[in-house]
Amino acid sequence: MKHLIDIKNLSIEEIDNLINVAQDIMKNKEKYAKKCEGKKLATLFYEPSTRTRLSFEAAMMELGGNVLGFSSANSSSASKGESVADTVRVIGGYADIIAMRHPKEGAPLVAVMKSEVPIINAGDGGHNHPTQTLTDLLTIQCEKHRLSSLTIGICGDLKFGRTVHSLITAMSRYQNIKFVLISPKELKIPDYIKKDILEKNNIDYCETNNLEEYMSELDILYMTRVQKERFFNEDDYIRLKDYYILNKEKLKNAKKDLCIMHPLPRVNEISTDVDDDERACYFKQAKYGKYIRMALILDLLEVK
Ligand code: CP
Repeated sequence: MKHLIDIKNLSIEEIDNLINVAQDIMKNKEKYAKKCEGKKLATLFYEPSTRTRLSFEAAMMELGGNVLGFSSANSSSASKGESVADTVRVIGGYADIIAMRHPKEGAPLVAVMKSEVPIINAGDGGHNHPTQTLTDLLTIQCEKHRLSSLTIGICGDLKFGRTVHSLITAMSRYQNIKFVLISPKELKIPDYIKKDILEKNNIDYCETNNLEEYMSELDILYMTRVQKERFFNEDDYIRLKDYYILNKEKLKNAKKDLCIMHPLPRVNEISTDVDDDERACYFKQAKYGKYIRMALILDLLEVK
């Protein structure tokens, strides 16, 4: 049985296959409308979500399947003390596949050990968010028409941003990738990402706290929000939350075909005056998320 816990679980060939299926779904929606008839997806969300949960549910519905689940720990028996292991054991009797978000890093791995159905990690703490990364890769392929030879600026909370860790892990496997890591010193990329991913794979990268310094070189600018829910000290969050605000003025030296991405939700880090710029891809990115999740559900359920 296949699960998706970490983007590293997928080979480049498997990722390329998911992207190809997602692109085929976008072109031929009718062909896929009954592929999951009779199947059920359970969404177990112990942490808030808009895009991930609802795009998973929309994905299963557009494949002809059904959905069930909970959207907060408080509305489930987790609030009475039930463990993740017991919950997935029970839900495996109600659903064919489970998408799970949990604040504790590693919780989806615990689920895999007890589950009789495929588990998808829909975000675990500050650790991983593999389906956001698949969404990001599909966005890059659709908007830039390649996944190699790219200079990617990643800006904001590189310490706690799980989407950032998964994206760097995935893109480091493609050819001729350069990263510009833009953050305040308090929110720099963790050392394990630098050592185990960037340096181990000889990836070209630099670090700066200046959003505009490398703007003219970027093919992709991936903005992120400061992760309020991961801070221990509210004063630190308040001090750092508006460190970067991308606006039209800051884009004046950017390439004409820059792709501006953001996993969303946005707080203040992209000014709304950027939304009408044709380089703003973040709302399209959220839509691509539904199609790649459709491709993933088909793959994990082994639907041809
Ligand atoms: N990008 C993302 O994970 O959004 P949600 O938290 O709304 O699911």
